[in-house]
Amino acid sequence: MKHFLQFTDLTVDELAYVFTRASVIKRKFKAYEKHHTLADRTLAMIFEKASTRTRVSFEAGMYQMGGAVVHLTTGDSQLGRAEPIEDSAKVISRMVDLVMIRTFGQDKINSFAANSRVPVINGLTNEFHPCQILADLFTFIEHRGDTQHPLQCLHGKVVAWVGDGNNMANTWLQAADMLGFTVHLSTPSGYEVDPTIAGLRSPDSYKVFKDPMQACAGADLVTTDVWTSMGYESENAVRQEAFADWCVDSDMMAQAKSNALFMHCLPAHRGEEVAADVIDGPQSVVWDEAENRMHVQKALMEYLLLGKQ
Ligand code: CP
Ligand code: NVA
Repeated sequence: MKHFLQFTDLTVDELAYVFTRASVIKRKFKAYEKHHTLADRTLAMIFEKASTRTRVSFEAGMYQMGGAVVHLTTGDSQLGRAEPIEDSAKVISRMVDLVMIRTFGQDKINSFAANSRVPVINGLTNEFHPCQILADLFTFIEHRGDTQHPLQCLHGKVVAWVGDGNNMANTWLQAADMLGFTVHLSTPSGYEVDPTIAGLRSPDSYKVFKDPMQACAGADLVTTDVWTSMGYESENAVRQEAFADWCVDSDMMAQAKSNALFMHCLPAHRGEEVAADVIDGPQSVVWDEAENRMHVQKALMEYLLLGKQ
């Protein structure tokens, strides 16, 4: 049994398979062709934080594959009344085939998985957001590569990360370390990425820049995220000041390659981490990126339950 708790839980070969399979599943979805490979399977989705994309993409994706979903939140389950995560995992995983969890610390999802009889998928933790990076890479491959040979176009590329050293940044580092591209990291001081969280094999997959403009120089992809992630709301006022120079605007995009893409996992705050003319401009692929959550996660769920098809 395989879980997807961090990006590194899939091998390079498995990642390539999931990307190619996602393109098949996407094509069938667009053609209204049935793809009921998960008929009679049930996914439990547990949300301890808010979500729009993660919920809709997993829920719609599961129905499209002939399966069913159970949606639980902290507020409407015993999770919010201190039932131990281990007990919850033992019970829930006896009744469903697959579990997706969005929660706070990675330790919680690790404990759930350790007590689960079925595969567990990370739908975002404080430390990682691996499903989002699957979607982001798939989107890059669609725009700049070939879904039959999905990993080739990633080799040697530069991804500029502008903003918080958060769950998204940690997961970008894991992907770069595995797939042979480089992340240029620029964060305000005090909000640096801690590379020990990503557990990198090599220090060559990232470079740190004080100046976000320099981080973007020559980049193939510029990406950012909210200044204040879920769970850190009490720091919002302090962060607004600290991050003021880490807004991806057209001057910053002009440092990158002329064909550079812009990505944002969403939700976005125009005028904070990204200027409206960038996120709504011609280099932005944020709507493809959001849609692709569903296609890659369908491929991922199918792979975790059925293996290669
Ligand atoms: N990008 C993402 O995970 O969005 P949601 O918080 O809406 O699920
Ligand atoms: N870093 C953000 C991502 C939201 C999808 C957060 O954790 O809130």
